[in-house]
Amino acid sequence: MLVQYKQQQLILIAKEGVEANRSICKMLSMAAGAVVFFAVALSAATSGDTAVVEHTFIVSQVRMRHLCNDTLVTVVNGQFPGPALEATEGDTVVVHLVNQSPYGITIHWHGVKQRLTCWADGAGMITQCPIQPNTTFTYRFDVSGQEGTLWWHSHVSALRATLHGIIVIRPRSGTYPFPKPDVEVPVIIGEWWQRDLIKVDKNFSIGGSFDDNPAAATINGKLGDLYNCSGVAEDNFVLDVEPGKTYLLRLVNAALFSEYYFKVAGHKLTVVGADASYLRPFTTEVVAVAAGETIDVLMVADAPPCRYYMAALANQPPVPDPQIPVFISRGVVQYNNIPSDAQNCTEKSPLMPEMPDQHDTITTFYFHGNLTGLQQPGGGHPLLPQVRGRVDERLFLTLGKGSMCTHNKTSCKRGGSNESFEVAYINNVSFHLPETTAVLEARYYGSGVAVEQLPSMPPRAFNFTDTALIPVVPGGKMEELEPTRKATTTRRFAHNATVEVVFQSTATMQSDSNPMHLHGHDFFVLAQGHGNYDAGRDVRSYNLVDPPMKNTVQVPRLGWAAIRFVADNPGAWFLHCHFEFHIAMGMATVFEVDSGPTLETTLPPPPSDLPKCTR
Ligand code: C2O
Repeated sequence: MLVQYKQQQLILIAKEGVEANRSICKMLSMAAGAVVFFAVALSAATSGDTAVVEHTFIVSQVRMRHLCNDTLVTVVNGQFPGPALEATEGDTVVVHLVNQSPYGITIHWHGVKQRLTCWADGAGMITQCPIQPNTTFTYRFDVSGQEGTLWWHSHVSALRATLHGIIVIRPRSGTYPFPKPDVEVPVIIGEWWQRDLIKVDKNFSIGGSFDDNPAAATINGKLGDLYNCSGVAEDNFVLDVEPGKTYLLRLVNAALFSEYYFKVAGHKLTVVGADASYLRPFTTEVVAVAAGETIDVLMVADAPPCRYYMAALANQPPVPDPQIPVFISRGVVQYNNIPSDAQNCTEKSPLMPEMPDQHDTITTFYFHGNLTGLQQPGGGHPLLPQVRGRVDERLFLTLGKGSMCTHNKTSCKRGGSNESFEVAYINNVSFHLPETTAVLEARYYGSGVAVEQLPSMPPRAFNFTDTALIPVVPGGKMEELEPTRKATTTRRFAHNATVEVVFQSTATMQSDSNPMHLHGHDFFVLAQGHGNYDAGRDVRSYNLVDPPMKNTVQVPRLGWAAIRFVADNPGAWFLHCHFEFHIAMGMATVFEVDSGPTLETTLPPPPSDLPKCTR
């Protein structure tokens, strides 16, 4: 069962869902093809039969007060974070989205494989046009072939800062490949923004500014007591624990900007899963959660009964990279019945974990390098296939920044001049989001969007990780490499092709890591390394035996990562960095996967209520 506060919230949602269903019944039944159920929002716990998990998500703007300010935020069902979706592997999820906000909205089910349901993937202008204000759309998809933690978030602009929630997929058998936890606890790391997020996104699409920062970090929507309003501390997320019990913390990094380190003072954490795939368990004191990533950890309440801080700290590369403020949020793990004579346990100051330095980018490298999948010699977990040896397509994708001239000029001053603006790219092409038709619709109907093939290689080789490229200065080392262009790039794969992608982070105008996320397919992370990828040397480090299965790979700062997947899910799938500033600046592309020869491998037509584009 989910931890207490979550149960209450869920019961609340179930009721709200029914209420909402009544009031919007008319609206929904007007939407072509929409079927109105009044079913409960909770799935059967563990049973042989698959269930339909049904929710109504009402998107609206509400005011929330933090840091002495009332801020207008866009949320689902009045909650930040939004409602949890809980399902059992194999269930069908039906979400009626009612848009009462002033913005076009889509919801992406981050990490859900969406087999044959690409239309429900919710990637704005990739799989659908946004759901316009005062309209509805019903998402329907199955959660099969994966167990663990995923999450949902809006996928048009930066609104996902407050429009997100957790997805929990439990095993149908009721058994985990680790000791069954007593309590499950969502731990959603996020950010509190006081800026107009539509504006923030626009700013980034024209170069951005590092003044557009969140106001605070959050854990489950709480800022924590390191933040205050006129001296009154913000609330902490509080986890009440009973000595001896095992807690499954389902960590989600929903932040727009940063990777986070997570620790709990006085407790060790055993990593058992990530991105809804099982991992070979290992024990650690610190967990790194990349933007977009989920990590499942077990925590046994085996410390002396007391109060302990849990903390989430954002990391960032050191100067000369542009710096953002330090973001840290903390919550409290509180033992019940703390004896009044407990030694060194005061009501006021829980023990604080010693966090890594905010500029430490090595701890995450080793954390992610430690992940192995739960394949075993002689057959491992049934949900983890073996790695395919044959590779049909190889891509080498550089991730970095460049610049374009303002006013569509072809030549201009670079190096920070205002004749040019910064963009982010994959292989020197900055992704242009189509404006009139979604990529998938254009492909399905054979018209509408001019696309270019994503190049398999960058246009030229250079020392990608040369830190002399970081400073943006007139006449700097970077100036010659800056010119970049915009296009809607896609890469088309034959059904069932095995694709290997090597992502190379570069030091061009910044040296951030790049949490790359692929929709619609999980991939194996075969290897990672520092510096420039060298095929001759680095293929020997590939783990082809028990690599972790992921949907988001943390491509190390000044390094590379190699992934492999089977392109067997027809559709148009967004591939992008999960840092919002990178995606808004164009570090994205689309992988198009062909339908196969049979009905079971062919993308069905779009649902009849798929939103129309309005411009
Ligand atoms: Cu979680 Cu396309 O993203």
